[in-house]
Amino acid sequence: MRSTLLLKLSLIPLTALWLTGCPEDDDDGAQDMGVADNGVKPDTGVDTGVVDMGVEDTGVEDTGADTGVDTGVEDTGVDGGVDAGFVVSTRPRNGSAVAVTADDGVGLFINRRTGFNGTAASNQIESYTLNLAASPPTMTMKGTFLLEDAYQIIIGNDDDSAYVAGRTEVVKFTGVKSTAGLTRNAGVAAGSESRGIALSPTGQTLYVANWADGTVTVIRTADMTVTATIDLNGPLATSGLLGDSVTGGRPGLAHPYAIGLTNDGDMEDGDETVYVTEYFSQAITSGVPTDNSGFDLGRQGVIYQFNAGTQTVGALITLAPTADTTFVDSDGNATGCFPNQLNAVAINGERMFVTGVCASPRGPTGPILDANNALMNPANFKTEVHAAVYVVNTTTNMEEAANSLLLTAQFQALYDTAAVPDDGTNRRIPLIPTDIAFVPGSNFAYVTSYGSDAVFRIAYNADGTLDEVGSSTQRFINLVPQGQDPGRLPIGIGMVSGGRAIVANEFTRNVSFLQFSTQNVVGTANLTGTGPTGAEANINNGRRFFVTGLGRWSFRAQGWNSCEACHPNGLTDNVTWFFARGPRQTTSLDGTYSSMDPAQRRLLNWTAIFDETHDFELNTRGNSGGVGAIVHANSNPPVAADRIHFDGTVPVPAGNMATLTPQNGLNGSTISMMPGGANPVLSVLEDWNLIEAYVRVIRSPRAPSILDAGDVAAGRQLFVDNNCAGCHATEMWTISRVFYTPNEANNNPTTGALRSNNYTADNAFPAALNPPSNVGGRMAPLRFNGANPGANDQINCILRAVGTFPDVLDGMQNGVAPTGVRVREVRTNMTTDAQGLSGFNPPSLLGMGTGAPYFHAGNARTLEEVFATPTFDDHSQAFSSNFPGVANREMAVRQLTAFLLSIDETTVPEAVPTTLGFDATLCPDSFP
Ligand code: HEC
Ligand code: HEC
Repeated sequence: MRSTLLLKLSLIPLTALWLTGCPEDDDDGAQDMGVADNGVKPDTGVDTGVVDMGVEDTGVEDTGADTGVDTGVEDTGVDGGVDAGFVVSTRPRNGSAVAVTADDGVGLFINRRTGFNGTAASNQIESYTLNLAASPPTMTMKGTFLLEDAYQIIIGNDDDSAYVAGRTEVVKFTGVKSTAGLTRNAGVAAGSESRGIALSPTGQTLYVANWADGTVTVIRTADMTVTATIDLNGPLATSGLLGDSVTGGRPGLAHPYAIGLTNDGDMEDGDETVYVTEYFSQAITSGVPTDNSGFDLGRQGVIYQFNAGTQTVGALITLAPTADTTFVDSDGNATGCFPNQLNAVAINGERMFVTGVCASPRGPTGPILDANNALMNPANFKTEVHAAVYVVNTTTNMEEAANSLLLTAQFQALYDTAAVPDDGTNRRIPLIPTDIAFVPGSNFAYVTSYGSDAVFRIAYNADGTLDEVGSSTQRFINLVPQGQDPGRLPIGIGMVSGGRAIVANEFTRNVSFLQFSTQNVVGTANLTGTGPTGAEANINNGRRFFVTGLGRWSFRAQGWNSCEACHPNGLTDNVTWFFARGPRQTTSLDGTYSSMDPAQRRLLNWTAIFDETHDFELNTRGNSGGVGAIVHANSNPPVAADRIHFDGTVPVPAGNMATLTPQNGLNGSTISMMPGGANPVLSVLEDWNLIEAYVRVIRSPRAPSILDAGDVAAGRQLFVDNNCAGCHATEMWTISRVFYTPNEANNNPTTGALRSNNYTADNAFPAALNPPSNVGGRMAPLRFNGANPGANDQINCILRAVGTFPDVLDGMQNGVAPTGVRVREVRTNMTTDAQGLSGFNPPSLLGMGTGAPYFHAGNARTLEEVFATPTFDDHSQAFSSNFPGVANREMAVRQLTAFLLSIDETTVPEAVPTTLGFDATLCPDSFP
């Protein structure tokens, strides 16, 4: 402990810079809460001689040089003995897309430029001189650096260095405040898919969470040397939450995302605790209700923690599911949800606040229509995803469950109590909380909502209980206000002095300046590349439609749901949703289109029931309750009567527009309904072309960087030798292809050729693997033409029955799963048998490391469980009768797992084997 080190506290009157325009601003400004002052009190100038952790001084702790007085006691921490010039910072220790120097003079931002160079995200670090005293605030560019996948940035305690973790390296920048601008120093190798970063209180140690590796890299900032790599895979494996097929750690079990750490204010970093969120929910292993509510309550959030000095990972901290979200589904049942996508943290006092998306996958999930197709019950649009803030006590290392909040429920209650008009202008729901920050020295938190272009205020009491959400000035801070440039898709918030904040916006590539006294945006400033054109604009717009729950994209334009809420970064939330055809793991969209041949895409969904990305209009309408974008009119605000009915239903109100023949699912073509298309009935909007442009460029997560190369090579040999590529081949790692051009002529439901045209399986093709052709003559229709086509329509030739669905469903409709995993093979109404008896559409094997659990319903918790137990041997042996056998099974599983984890877009693909003695693909290459 070194409390005697003298810190030079700033005597610069903060009022000069900050209180212009808000003279009474002595709290977060939202309104006077009658509680402790939380904002920027002028510094009294009295230095007590100890490190000031209090609320008096929230801003500029150390503007000048260290006094140079060292007690002479050697630092005992993990800093390698380097202590000269280090000071303890009271600023947030975790990174964000926004970082501002302590004097508010320079702002650094991550500009996530979707579409640049045709990529899903080409991130850039941008540095600006800020003039926050101006009205509106302004900023002047100092410099930019391209750093692929840069996710967060943080400024060092010297206020002159900054750290960013990018795709392949962690980089230190210096000269943050110099007039020459940033200098990029040599980087140090990072793990795969770095996400959250954080600095120790003295700034001597940088922590980087490697989402794909499952590790935290510990870096000494003085010379950017990696001093340790902390493995979180082992602790997760030994927790027992993953079943008994994994006994030790291996890369890609854990998915560390956000990092926070305590700060006790002394010069000793080694006595702090580092917290790392596990991004994905984990199973609860006992006490899960055995009725259907168990599907909302059977998983939990996990936070890893380790002591900064010993670096030993302690007991996992768990975040409990919410038993009652307050939203009742259309069956009248209370719904629950479990913590998932834990993507941001803020430490305040002795608590850590963790944002996440609470998932509620139990059915019913879709709209309830009456006999005339009018929406009878919109309840289920509100029962799928909930923005949440969980509270962890850093003294007890336990969740304070009573203080954890669903923001959806809180804001719905706020609006209802105040009788706020139930429209998209007056109500906004927090959707996908991307960042959280506290006004310094206060209990006021602000959360950025990715999917509803707003910032939401949470006022806590000192004991961590909720005081209120929103404020009486404004219920939420709209980032798209009248009279200001819009700020869309906010990804980060940084507090600055004077009860203000700066928010970085992904879509609009700008920042919004917030003033809490008025709860308003008081100005905006552009980053680079604002207003892109051409292909870049198309991808960027597609990304926005994918993320947002505003406008036409969710119920009443309020932000209830969006594609991104289940497909974070276009990938998967790893949740099994009870959807129209059964329990379904969210499919990662990295394998939907070929990264090499733009003409190639998969037949879509686990049972090959869609063939165009545009078909997911039905998801917008059905799961999110939005008007959607296949419309004959562009009303403002959008209204349900704008919809074109393209699914064979009669429009309500009568007389509204419908297509001549159904174009939904495998019928006709929703692409043909885009402006200028071939369909006689055309949408006035081309939004779905833009969403498709975005989905095309979603890349797979990069393979863990720490795989054993020998195991990977041996695993590839096993993959080849056992004919896995008979179903998982090419750069898409699946044989599934849309082999026809969806259109009226090819797949019209009444006259279409695809329904009646046949395929013939080779006699040598294992008959049970493709039930539709398991008939005399081995000939079957390419497309399902049996009973109840609306509910069962699918492409037959791509289905492979690999033993993951029971031949006969028992009374409980139990699926195929090892002990400890519960699968119920029912559709969204939770009673009708699921589809699956005819087999499944082979999934892409891209991104396996970030995609657990596996199979259509999350039947296997780990890749080891897919191969190590006999439960799924039918799948392993589909084209290789004894694999993986008994001898050396453990080694085979380890090697195969290593290879599967290694598959990303850079992996050399395998071709469909030609030595099987039959054509493995069954579907034709093209049609007709
Ligand atoms: C509530 C969660 C949820 C939401 C919201 C959601 N999806 Fe999905 N998505 C899923 C699930 C689950 C599947 C698998 C469904 C199946 O197989 O039947 C899926 C599958 C897909 C697929 C098929 C990919 C493939 O290769 O097979 C596409 C494309 C897709 N979604 C796009 C979208 C788009 C676009 C949106 C927004 C309009 C969206 N999703 C919204 C959960 C969701
Ligand atoms: C005959 C076709 C076929 C063969 C051969 C085959 N698979 Fe599969 N595979 C499938 C199907 C179909 C599924 C999806 C089953 C389900 O979800 O119920 C699947 C699922 C998987 C999954 C889970 C993917 C996910 O996202 O959940 C992995 C991993 C996998 N296969 C790897 C392999 C390996 C390794 C081999 C070789 C030992 C192999 N497969 C052989 C058809 C096949």
